[in-house]
Amino acid sequence: MDPVEEKGGESRGEMTRRTFVRIGLTAVGAGYAAALGYPIYEYLASPAEKAAVEAAVKDVTLEKADELPAGSAMMFKFGGMPALLIHHDDGTWTSLSAVCTHLGCTVQYEKEQKRIHCACHGGVYDARTGANMSGPPPKPLRAFRVEVAVGKVVVSRA
Ligand code: FES
Repeated sequence: MDPVEEKGGESRGEMTRRTFVRIGLTAVGAGYAAALGYPIYEYLASPAEKAAVEAAVKDVTLEKADELPAGSAMMFKFGGMPALLIHHDDGTWTSLSAVCTHLGCTVQYEKEQKRIHCACHGGVYDARTGANMSGPPPKPLRAFRVEVAVGKVVVSRA
């Protein structure tokens, strides 16, 4: 027997290449499985996990948000969910969930019309109260409490 040959006529060089190829294919397969599996896991697990994360968060401190100009709004995350902080022209503040109550699209503040609009199906909400005004949304946006202080705005569950 050739000293380089082993069982089945394979040389050490071939075994090494085969082992290398197997390890490589296994790694590629594991990568594909993770790439496909993670989004599926996220899709299936996300409603319960997001609800748990959202419920655990009682308030959010927005550093320097007190500098938000009157007549404008900013988006932020409240417990992983999008939310709006609106500084109205008259100096008052509102914070609302930015998750449309129809099918969950993210709504936007429309500065010129001073309203909240959902581009998915044309839902419209009152920018001060979050009340559903027109379109398919069945209920108001969730409102948060707003406390403005020097250098920050604290938004908490109402
Ligand atoms: S998801 Fe907002 S109007 Fe349908």
